[in-house]
Amino acid sequence: MIHVLVTGAKGQLATCLADVSQTFPSLNCSFTSREMLDIAHKEALQDYFKSNPVDYCINTAAYTQVDQAEKEIEKAFAINKTAVGNLATVCLQHKVRLLHVSTDYVFDGTKTTPYSEGDTPNPINVYGRSKYEGEQRLAEILPEHFIVRTSWLYSQYGQNFLTAMLRFASEEKPLKITTEQLGAPTNANDLAKALLHIISQQSDRFGVYHYSNAGSATWFDFAKAIFEESGKIETVNLAQTDHYPTFAERPKYSVLDNSKICNTFAMQTVPWRYSLQQLIKNMNI
Ligand SMILES: NC(=O)c1ccc[n+]([C@@H]2O[C@H](COP(=O)([O-])OP(=O)(O)OC[C@H]3O[C@@H](n4cnc5c(N)ncnc54)[C@H](OP(=O)(O)O)[C@@H]3O)[C@@H](O)[C@H]2O)c1
Repeated sequence: MIHVLVTGAKGQLATCLADVSQTFPSLNCSFTSREMLDIAHKEALQDYFKSNPVDYCINTAAYTQVDQAEKEIEKAFAINKTAVGNLATVCLQHKVRLLHVSTDYVFDGTKTTPYSEGDTPNPINVYGRSKYEGEQRLAEILPEHFIVRTSWLYSQYGQNFLTAMLRFASEEKPLKITTEQLGAPTNANDLAKALLHIISQQSDRFGVYHYSNAGSATWFDFAKAIFEESGKIETVNLAQTDHYPTFAERPKYSVLDNSKICNTFAMQTVPWRYSLQQLIKNMNI
């Protein structure tokens, strides 16, 4: 039995991991929320790892509010950089392999073809900087790590683009969604499966990987697809805009090249529209 610790248990990815882990009988997964295990507290981490068996840790805990991070710089770095370093240290001491989730926002968006792991990050907002420096801190401390960068996560759980659009649809307000950025919407359930698949292979091909659903879309394309798949496109008042001002700047292009993860771990990525369709079908909206 492989013992897996998942941090940040109340977040959307961790909640998907809890569901998906039921289909991986060889993995014994434990889930800790911030209240149970705050990764910013070194002693709490030490105590947990001393008293519980852990072979792999999946770190989903993060400061994820992209706009708010511009104002809460210290808080973002404390969780996304310093705490990730704490976790890496304790993993090193206890011979635990760490799968850490990172973001497409480490890139500046100036490319026009998918970003591969060899491309140099150059984050353009505080959140992206804190995540990139967290990656670097981790890699300095712990050789046995997998950093998995993903993009535009959504799921049936919590606050995300899918749940926000479904809520707006019922409010009948006009909606203007931007065409300014191109990325890959990624179903967090698919990412959860990919992370557990990597662990179940017990591979030692450590390093940085990109994982998203296949294809690309603007936020407007994504919104339109949500309304089409949920049967609300006729009733919703949806328009596109080429600029939607936000507090934090975002990369204009952040599509990830998934070929390394697919080739290394013998997996395939699902087209984003198909995955969205399946999830909405299962949600019985
Ligand atoms: N969401 C996206 O679009 C997206 C895109 C690319 C990459 N990612 C990355 O994917 C990962 C998972 O994202 P997500 O969407 O699941 O995020 P999420 O829903 O915001 O979940 C993050 C969780 O981490 C917890 N947390 C924060 N600080 C903590 C601490 N010090 N100790 C323990 N737990 C703590 C949060 O708890 P509280 O609620 O108590 O703060 C929250 O439950 C993150 O690394 C994120 O950077 C996300």
